[in-house]
Amino acid sequence: MALLEVRNLEVSYGPVNVLKGISFTIEKGQIITILGANGAGKTTTLRTISGLVEPEKGNIILEGQEIKGFEPDRIVRLGISHVPEGREVFPDLSVYKNLLMGAFINSDARVVAENLEMVYHYFPLLRDRSSQHAYTLSGGEQQMLVIGRALMSKPKLLLLDEPSLGLSPKLIKTIFGIVRRINEEESTTILLVEQNARMALEVAQHGYILEVGRMVMDDTTERLKQNEDVQEFYLGMQEHGIRGTRRWKKKKMWR
Ligand SMILES: Nc1ncnc2c1ncn2[C@@H]1O[C@H](COP(=O)(O)OP(=O)(O)O)[C@@H](O)[C@H]1O
Ligand SMILES: [Mg+2]
Repeated sequence: MALLEVRNLEVSYGPVNVLKGISFTIEKGQIITILGANGAGKTTTLRTISGLVEPEKGNIILEGQEIKGFEPDRIVRLGISHVPEGREVFPDLSVYKNLLMGAFINSDARVVAENLEMVYHYFPLLRDRSSQHAYTLSGGEQQMLVIGRALMSKPKLLLLDEPSLGLSPKLIKTIFGIVRRINEEESTTILLVEQNARMALEVAQHGYILEVGRMVMDDTTERLKQNEDVQEFYLGMQEHGIRGTRRWKKKKMWR
């Protein structure tokens, strides 16, 4: 059974239809990526899975159970943890207290201490900085903190919203390396949404491409990387900005 199955998901903000019936599957243990330009609907997809946005239609099935319409905290308790875009730390709280915020589903102090050790194992820097205010951290360190905070509930499925945004290539490599280790060592399944196609295709095994609310491609990342259209129109897009998007559309790659 798939860990998560999203079927024909439709989401609108007022009159604007933003997700036009998207479907995808996440198998246990995988890292999958959803690639898409700015405004494609990536964040909306993650927010809908987390219960922060209510879909109009469709199904969100976690291990065979329909979770659509559940409250966000219930979804966390069922094993889905969301790292929102934009590194939303609690700036005036210490690193340690920020991490504890991610442990709200646990009342057992021993489990919380264990999870904290697990987070410090992947992000030793957070242990060194544990008493510092979160606002004193650099962008990369804040990204580590929000991933660490999401891990405090020991999720089955970790949703990552553009962790690479605004970070140096070197830092992106470091963070994606840690994400891969978490996937391997904790068996945490990961859904990564990214504009940075190059890096995301390196770290994930399976990829989907989202274009203005519709999935236009679904394949292994090996095959996506070799796909001429992905190379030309998608990977090239990072160098040529919006132009790539227009040409992509012209080629009528819609399914
Ligand atoms: N709260 C909102 N209210 C109205 N429109 C929104 C809201 N959030 C996102 N949108 C619009 O929905 C579309 C998809 O946005 P989003 O899911 O943030 O895309 P992405 O994360 O791929 O950049 C965009 O056109 C965006 O302007
Ligand atoms: Mg977004």
